[in-house]
Amino acid sequence: MNCSTCWHSPGCVPVASRNSLSRRKTHKCYASFNQKDAWQSAPLLDAVLERGNRLQDKPFHVPGHKRGRALDPGMCQLLGLQPGSGSSSSQQQRNPLQYDLTELAGLDYLSSPIGVIAAAQQAGAATFGSDHTWLLVNGCSAGIHAAVMATVRPGQALLLARNCHLSAFAACVLAGCRPVWLQPEEDALHGVAHCVTPQQLEAGFRDAQQQGLEVAAVLVVSPTYYGAVARVPELAALCHERGVPLLVDEAHGGHLAFLQQHREELRQQEEELRRREEELEQQWKDLEQHGEEYGQQHEKLEQQQEELRQQEEELWRQQVDSQMYQRSLQQQLKVLQQQQKELTQQQEHLARQQEELLQQQEEGWQQQKGLQQQQKGLQQQQKGLQQQLEGLQQQQEGLQQQIDDLRGQWNGVEQQQQDLQQEQEDLQQEQDGVANQTDYLILQQETLQEQQADLHSRQQVAAGQPAAGQPCSSSSSLSALAAGADLVAQSSHKVLSAMTQAAMLHSQGSRVDPARVSKALQVLQTSSPSYLLLASLDAARRHAATPGTWDTPLAVATAARAGLAAIPGLLLLQGGSCGSEASVGGWDPLRLVVNVAGLGLSGFDAAQWLEEQHSIVPELATAQLVVLVVGPGSVMGDAEALLHGFDQLSKLHHAPHSAAAASAQQPDAGVAAGSIQNSTAAIHSSSKSKINMSLPVKQTADDEDQPISQQQQQQQQQQHDAHPGPSPMSPRDAFFAPTQTIPLAAAAGRISAELLCPYPPGVPLVFPGELLTQHVLAQLTATLAAGGVVTGAANATLQTLLVVAEQQQQQQPGGQQHS
Ligand SMILES: Cc1ncc(COP(=O)(O)O)c(C=O)c1O
Repeated sequence: MNCSTCWHSPGCVPVASRNSLSRRKTHKCYASFNQKDAWQSAPLLDAVLERGNRLQDKPFHVPGHKRGRALDPGMCQLLGLQPGSGSSSSQQQRNPLQYDLTELAGLDYLSSPIGVIAAAQQAGAATFGSDHTWLLVNGCSAGIHAAVMATVRPGQALLLARNCHLSAFAACVLAGCRPVWLQPEEDALHGVAHCVTPQQLEAGFRDAQQQGLEVAAVLVVSPTYYGAVARVPELAALCHERGVPLLVDEAHGGHLAFLQQHREELRQQEEELRRREEELEQQWKDLEQHGEEYGQQHEKLEQQQEELRQQEEELWRQQVDSQMYQRSLQQQLKVLQQQQKELTQQQEHLARQQEELLQQQEEGWQQQKGLQQQQKGLQQQQKGLQQQLEGLQQQQEGLQQQIDDLRGQWNGVEQQQQDLQQEQEDLQQEQDGVANQTDYLILQQETLQEQQADLHSRQQVAAGQPAAGQPCSSSSSLSALAAGADLVAQSSHKVLSAMTQAAMLHSQGSRVDPARVSKALQVLQTSSPSYLLLASLDAARRHAATPGTWDTPLAVATAARAGLAAIPGLLLLQGGSCGSEASVGGWDPLRLVVNVAGLGLSGFDAAQWLEEQHSIVPELATAQLVVLVVGPGSVMGDAEALLHGFDQLSKLHHAPHSAAAASAQQPDAGVAAGSIQNSTAAIHSSSKSKINMSLPVKQTADDEDQPISQQQQQQQQQQHDAHPGPSPMSPRDAFFAPTQTIPLAAAAGRISAELLCPYPPGVPLVFPGELLTQHVLAQLTATLAAGGVVTGAANATLQTLLVVAEQQQQQQPGGQQHS
């Protein structure tokens, strides 16, 4: 039973003999490795840190700088150290070369790992979801070499896309296999090749069969340099039907698995937002219910208020009536008082008369009697008046009582009014509270909607769909491993945060024998791997898997893409503008590919200007495109600077309705006319490894059934000339064959010993071992005449070409002269 860590070493017994005793002692079996939390561990990084921190060590081992002690001043400057600080006396200052270690005890062996390297590889497998992961120190190139060597034996066929990376061709040389080329889909609009369609793969299988070749593996690129992700699930299904493993060059796609994870995080965020939305809805409902209750109360209060107003009016009316009545009573009283007064005066007058009469009494009692009678009458009148007066006074008291009652009622009404006022104020306060709550809920809803929109666009981006314009297509699994590939090589240094050269190879399933992969890597990789590179792989994996790592890069890419789409004269490759898409299953959200043909510039010129004027350093330029890579280290400021730079470029060069702008829609014309002022600078300094595609379109078997026009026949003849069937010599034979330098004019019919790649379009036109036809030579010279360049040739002017020596050529089965 194999240990799950060192699968090739039953019982954890090390296979290598060197230093085996100490290895056995230091080997920890990671069989109990916790898969779920594996991504959080960085066993190799930890071990390198621990070993490098042992400052008491007296290093009698390689490397010779002895943990950074012996350094040239220039190297000190490069590492940010004081000159001389590497010496043992000043160990306080941390020196990165402290960790530039060799295979010391506890640090394992890359070629046959059983300790921390095995653990780091296992953590890699758990993080990426593979069955086995290998750490590479010679780039993804080594991964591709090993993948082919582990799956294809000499003489067997490897189906591979014509736009593969140089390392795939080198792998054919190493494995001694026969390449059967798959024609990638051409995007004429942007002058690039995308991926291989399932139909093209099927055609490749048929081609191999016709040539009597046994297909041992298929190798495709996904994503391409331009961010196009292949339809890996369909390609894998076609391979697996035939029992053939699918190898994927995912040099540019090490991050895609994490974007899938990011999508899962976004899905969780979406759920959280949905939950908050439901909460808000509930709050709205509660508020509406409260609102109804408040409304009913409000109506009731208004009714009460109306009734009170009516009562008030009625009282007021009564008060006015009673006041008028009181006033008339007062007048009557006055009249009566006046009458009383007059009566009193009359009484006085009578009394005086009585007195006079009394005086006159004596004059006659007759008169007295009469007068007494008069007096009696008057007294009766006075009594009557007195009674009337008393009655009036009673009436007045009654009235006063009424007025007091009314006043009491009035006060009561006033009190009720005050109470109502108070209730109204309370209600108003509650209404204000409801309004505040409504505002708050609206604000929350708006925030929620914004968050939902933001989430949606992030989800679109994370799904590999361009934010601006219509997506070409989408895919749920951009990562090749998740999509079913058998062997996947990744340049972790390109798209994760690993150091340059650090890469990984992953395998899954039973179609690939992991022991063959390890054996190939033992041949291909150095026996002194850099522990800095290895530790950086462990760290980059953990960093990539850490939640939140991809938020900023995705935001940067989204903002940049949206901004670029709005700049006149620019066309985004992923902005729904791709010229073809049958081979594309999705797009890398972190790749920005800008077509500048609409500005009347070549991609080379634009890239050079951006760097010189705005310090924006693109990854790659082609005749029409500028390719920009967003990675875990990208920040928003980069996107802002990029947009500013492109905006300035557009202002300088964009002339609406100009011929240049029109040529953006007709890229072939644009490319031919495009001025490549500095073609050497135009191709990125590291472009040796960036030779990508050539696009001689090949006739497929399906096409053969279609009726064709004369023009089409002509085109097909040209294509046939460009690819006159199987190569006369295998890449390996061509690589080892004696060569000869001859003038281009004399090269027709000879076998090329060099790889010739014209820019544009940047796809190898001829691989070593392939025939140089008249048509091929004409295409090469036409490229130079149009201002383009041909890379790969020993003589860049193409006045001479390197070909397989004549004698050697005639020994080949197809080695007759061609013209
Ligand atoms: C598509 C593709 N595959 C493979 C490689 C090789 O990767 P590395 O440089 O890590 O060896 C590259 C490098 O540019 C590439 O673009």
